[in-house]
Amino acid sequence: MEDFARDRSKLIPILQKAQGAEGFLSPEAIADISSFLDISENDIYSVASFYAQFRFTRPGDHIIKVCLGTACHVRGGERILESLERALNIQCGQTTEDFKFSLERVACIGCCALAPVMVIDEDVYSKVTPAKIKEVLALY
Ligand code: FES
Repeated sequence: MEDFARDRSKLIPILQKAQGAEGFLSPEAIADISSFLDISENDIYSVASFYAQFRFTRPGDHIIKVCLGTACHVRGGERILESLERALNIQCGQTTEDFKFSLERVACIGCCALAPVMVIDEDVYSKVTPAKIKEVLALY
């Protein structure tokens, strides 16, 4: 935090930097920021939880995003999500016990012609079928 002035207006950049370092906002990071900026931890949680960019739990090493935009929904996106939930034994929004994968849903990612689509980290998988799921997961 030495890069930042002790100024409440720096809260968001500090939160972004903390999350960049750990991958999420840990209770310890929130406590440190609270002391540094003299803002209550509750107020920091209130602000951070307003923004979808901030996480409060440790994410998996690989983030799987299943598109459920209109085109992907029509072409079976829900079945892809359900197959992943079964294969990983987690629900959407959760992380596997070994912290290998986190599973999320997203709206359109801009490649509707390739629906249904899922993204793992930066890799886009197109025209995904439930039968392909285990094969794709084995790549990670
Ligand atoms: S709806 Fe899935 S990429 Fe557009």
